[in-house]
Amino acid sequence: MARHFLQFTDFTREEYEHLFARSRVLKERLRRGEVYQPLVGKTLAMIFEKSSTRTRVSFEAGMNQLGGHAMFLASKDTQLGRGEPIEDVARVIGRMCDIVMLRTYEQTIADTFAAYSQAPVINGLTNEYHPCQTLADIFTFIEQRGSIEGRTVAWVGDSNNISRTWLQAARIFDFKLRLACPKGYEMKVLDGIDYGSAHFEQTHDPREAVEGADIVATDVCVSMGYERESLQRRVDFLAYKVSADLMKLASKDAVFMHCLPAHRGEEVDPEVLDGPQSIVWDEAENRMHTQKALIEFLLLGKVVE
Ligand code: CP
Ligand code: NVA
Repeated sequence: MARHFLQFTDFTREEYEHLFARSRVLKERLRRGEVYQPLVGKTLAMIFEKSSTRTRVSFEAGMNQLGGHAMFLASKDTQLGRGEPIEDVARVIGRMCDIVMLRTYEQTIADTFAAYSQAPVINGLTNEYHPCQTLADIFTFIEQRGSIEGRTVAWVGDSNNISRTWLQAARIFDFKLRLACPKGYEMKVLDGIDYGSAHFEQTHDPREAVEGADIVATDVCVSMGYERESLQRRVDFLAYKVSADLMKLASKDAVFMHCLPAHRGEEVDPEVLDGPQSIVWDEAENRMHTQKALIEFLLLGKVVE
């Protein structure tokens, strides 16, 4: 049975510590111009049912740097787009490729794909979770500010795939997620885990969430797949923008994070996104370094050197 990365809860803290250590090594080696290609002859299939910039580029560039090949498959151009069952596609691709990345709608699609694939499957975003993003986000915070344990992450906005994955990480890394969202958009916990108040608090007041926080994070209020709710959501989330005034309530050395793409003036003001506390570009770059460590781990196990 292949090991998969479908939700953040799939790995232990100790495995994340290994991935972060490897991410640091691989990032440093790349900086030095060293060639490290343990995956010559290996193929990564990347199946996209939704748009992407960072996920596609980070996986493709990363796999190339490791010596392997990345194959981009837009589902609408494959038989998947014409109704071929996901189970059949998974059986076929899993036999031809060494590892698979899938960006899709419901989490059940990714889970089903993994159940039928003999190759490891990585969740590259579903409606419910985005574990690769959180992997990069936590690595980025640790890189810039040290341990995330005992810290407070203020999330201002939608209780979506990104914030739900932050919540899974809160329990594993022992920090607190304070989420502020409009009424009717509260977080639905889907993994059956009881996140006690040490790891999770919910409010409708952004100021209450941000007060003294170490990280202030947000995301679009209309995620991919929810376009039909666009007009209503834009109204409902008007008071949930990260402004410079809101940032002032956070801890003095707080950072601003956003998975991107961002909409300046909607969920975040330009002076915050492009300001000195923003670490969004490092966050984006680190998608590549952390996913290289993830691919290496899934294909080669714990590499120590
Ligand atoms: N953050 C992220 O996953 O970006 P893309 O949608 O561009 O891949
Ligand atoms: N929540 C956003 C994240 C995009 C990277 C979406 O699902 O569209």
